[in-house]
This record gives sequence, C-alpha cells and structure tokens, in this order.
Amino acid sequence: MRKVLILDFGSQYTQLIARKVRELGVYSEIRPFHFPLPRIRSGGFDAIVLSGGPQSVYEKGAPSVDPKIFGLGLPVLGVCYGLQLMTQLLGGAVAPSSRREYGSASLRPLNRRGLLAGVEDKSQVWMSHGDKAERVPPGFVVAGRTSNTKIAAMEDAVRRLHAVQFHPEVIHTRQGRRILSNFLFRIAGLEPDWSMGSFIERKVKEIRALVGHDRKVLCGLSGGVDSLVTALLVRRAVGRRLVCIFVDNGLLRKSQAADLMAVFRKRFDLNVVGVGASRFFLGRLRGVVAPERKRKVIGEAFIRVFEREARKIGGAAFLAQGTIYPDVIESAPVQGPSATIKSHHNVGGLPPGLRFKLIEPLRELFKDEVRALGRELGMDKDLVEQHPFPGPGLAVRIVGEVTPERIRILQDADAVLLEEVRRAGIYRRLWQAFAVLLPVRSVGVMGDRRTYQRVVVARLVESVDGMTAHCYPAPPRLLARISTRIVNEVEGVNRVVFDVTTKPPATIEWE
Ligand code: XMP
Repeated sequence: MRKVLILDFGSQYTQLIARKVRELGVYSEIRPFHFPLPRIRSGGFDAIVLSGGPQSVYEKGAPSVDPKIFGLGLPVLGVCYGLQLMTQLLGGAVAPSSRREYGSASLRPLNRRGLLAGVEDKSQVWMSHGDKAERVPPGFVVAGRTSNTKIAAMEDAVRRLHAVQFHPEVIHTRQGRRILSNFLFRIAGLEPDWSMGSFIERKVKEIRALVGHDRKVLCGLSGGVDSLVTALLVRRAVGRRLVCIFVDNGLLRKSQAADLMAVFRKRFDLNVVGVGASRFFLGRLRGVVAPERKRKVIGEAFIRVFEREARKIGGAAFLAQGTIYPDVIESAPVQGPSATIKSHHNVGGLPPGLRFKLIEPLRELFKDEVRALGRELGMDKDLVEQHPFPGPGLAVRIVGEVTPERIRILQDADAVLLEEVRRAGIYRRLWQAFAVLLPVRSVGVMGDRRTYQRVVVARLVESVDGMTAHCYPAPPRLLARISTRIVNEVEGVNRVVFDVTTKPPATIEWE
C-alpha cells in the first residue's frame, strides 16, 4: 500500500490534509515534525507533506526538520509554514510581511506543467500567514504568485520538491483537490489503492494472525458507531470467538437499550452478553450533583461491571476497542496548537485491572471513514449516521441529582423532541438534537389549574466535529410543536425553553 507521511507543525488544518489525501485514494499518516529521520527512511513512505504551523521559521525554538529529509529522493510538498521551512533550510530567504495575509487571494500559475497543472488563471486560493518567502532556494523556480505574494508556489522539479504558500487542503482553495492530486499522481507517481474494501481485507488478515485459531476477543459495545464497527470487523476475522458486552446503565434514551440489543443480536447476529445494571449505576449516583463527579462515578461503575462480566466469560486474551484516529492524534501532542487535547470522557475505556492485549482496528481511520466502513460492513444509513451520544448518557443532561423519576421525564421529553426533528427532515443536518432537564420548577396553568413543574431545554446544534458548534436556527413552527407536545405529553413538565448558545463559550452538553 502506498503511504504519504504528513509532518505536523501545528496547523489547525493538518488533519484536513490527511483526509484530503485519503479521499484521493492514498493512505496518509500524521506524525509530529520531530519524527526521526531513520524512521522516515524505514517507514515505507512514498511522499512527504510538510504541514502549516503558527510559528515563524526564524523564531528561536521554531519547529524544524533535518534538512536531509530533502535528500531522501522522496517528493515533498510544503504547505504554508512548510514552504517557509523549505525556503529557509535549502538556502532561500524568509521575511516577516508587514501585515498578516488572511483570506482569499487569486493565484497566477506561472508553470502549468507540474503542481499547478490544470489550475486556472486567477484561481481562488486561501492564505493564512504572517511571514513570506522573499527569495527561492537555489534550484527552485517560482511557480505561482498572487498580488500580495511573490512566491505563492515554488518548485524544484528535478528533486521533486514543491511548496505552496496557500492551503490547498481547505475548501476555499477552489482547485485545491487538483493541486493535491497533481502532487500525488503526477509528481509522486502514486496510484490510488486506499479503499475501505482493501482496508477490511488487510485488517481481517492482521487480526487473524494476531489472535490465532482458538483464542477469544472481548468487545464492549456502547451503542455508538465506533464500537459497533469495531465488533463487526473483528467478527469477520474471528467469528463467534468475539464476545461482546453491552452494559445497560439505565442512562440511555427511551427504549434504546432494548432497541440496541435487537440490532446487535437480530440484525448482526453478534455474540453479545447484555448486562442490566441500571440499579447499580443509579445507586452509585444517589446524591451526586457535581458534573465531574457524575462522570467519575459512572466511569468507575462501568469498569466494575465490565470486569465482573469479563471474568464470567473467562479466557479472553484480547480486548477490541473503537479508538479512532482523531483520538490517537489528540493524545500524542506536538508543540503546536493542533495538539489541543479534548478531555475525552469515554465510558468504555480499558479497565485498568484487566490484562488484555488491545485490538484497535480503527486507529488509522477518520470518523467519515469509520462511517464508510460501517456501510461496507452492512450497517444501514440510520445506524451509521446516528447522532453522537455521550458515554455518561442522560446523567449529564439531568442538571442536579439523577433519579429514576427524572430519567423517565427526560427520556419521554427527548423521545418527543427527536420524533419531531426526524419528522421535520432535519435529523441528518444536525450534529445533535436532545433535551435537557433542569432542576427548576416554574408556574403554569393547565385546564384552569395552576401547575408548578419542571423545565425542559431543547438543544439543537450544528457542528462539523463537535469542537465548535452553533444553535440550529429552528423554524418557530418546529419549536412550537416540540414545546406543545412535550408539555402535553410528558408528565411533570410545564415549560420548554430553547438553548441558543454557541460553543464556545458554552459546551454542547450541559455538564
Ligand atoms: P461538549 O459537551 O464537550 O461535547 O461540547 C462535545 C461532543 O462530545 C460529546 N461528549 C461525549 N462523548 N463521552 C463521549 O463519548 C463523553 O463523556 C462525552 N461528553 C460529551 C458530546 O455529546 C458532543 O457531541
């Protein structure tokens, strides 16, 4: 399989480069900029991309690479900071510009035989930089410019070293895909050989070789996409020797536990042990109000239950987990700001008391690739495109103490809300849609009688990756329906409010 190495200098767009390369059918991996040269040499890479980054190449301690990287005979593409670094390391000149250039610019290709083949004159490109190259290194020529940037693209065709000052990976660079594909196919001479079909074949072989012919694999199912895709993939490799555990913590959506078990067993014929543990979880949560404490209690309870079940099953040497690529990158930070670490509060992490070998077949995949893989493995659209659901479940949507009564109220309200969202045909467009229960009562009047009941919040958000989000501008008619139905149908609620806050400064979940 062909492989592209992307060295990360901390740009917010690094992951985007990796995804675009993969979309073009070539496997790519992100490594921190200090990834050692010997490992680059022995890593089987076919091309290198140097990402953007927030620093200045001439600042003290700025991230750099061993200049020998340019002598490995591999084609290199420098993007933004990558261009400046190439310029500096190979003997050109970089200088701060008088002001930052941010936003779109129109590109004048000067050489249309290489990287910019097929790129139109005045093609829109996206710039985001403070410094710029003043003089290209010996052996290079300028391949494109914009009105503000003399060296918007440069190349040394003989050594196959190319660089652009703009970001070909972002959508605002209109012909960015063509530029990346020119690099991969024209310049590096690669062929697209990365597809979900080939991925499945390779993983199945690897898992079989690792697990052998008689050993068992455990897998915790959360109800989310990642763990189910993991299970289906591992099952292909080891069949019934995969034993899944599904813990019903009593904090799922209305009838979700039963629905999920039906999907696991009937739809996919998985070997799954269902554990009803709501009483155990609720007991632990009694009197707990602080959000972080709730998360902790739930995480610990999960480990207890999982351990107990794993012992009962016995004899499993492996644990399959649905770790995906963004989790892996986030936990291996480089100096730069793409190292923002999300405090991932997943219930379903490896119980520390258990000694398993881990199988993480999705470690290399982005979320959209996991979804494509799920489809390939027989999951239907609804299942693959379901909204994210937090590990601690409804507990972080019940502000204050979690009680059976409150869970019931929230489940009912949430079910109504989701039904209306689906009916309005906007489910897929939203990142998440859910209800939150507040520990607040307000006065109302129903059938001439005074009521004094709970307040439910409707939260409908749009987001690309959950890191930032904004409120979906819901049509008033939809909001009115949601409100009317919840107040009429859900016992104990007499008021519905709509959360219009963005993330940041709020988070998507309330706790
Ligand atoms: P916040 O509330 O931090 O959430 O804006 C961002 C995204 O992450 C989900 N989320 C979780 N997912 N375990 C998970 O697997 C958790 O503990 C958890 N907490 C929040 C949240 O639903 C949103 O999509």
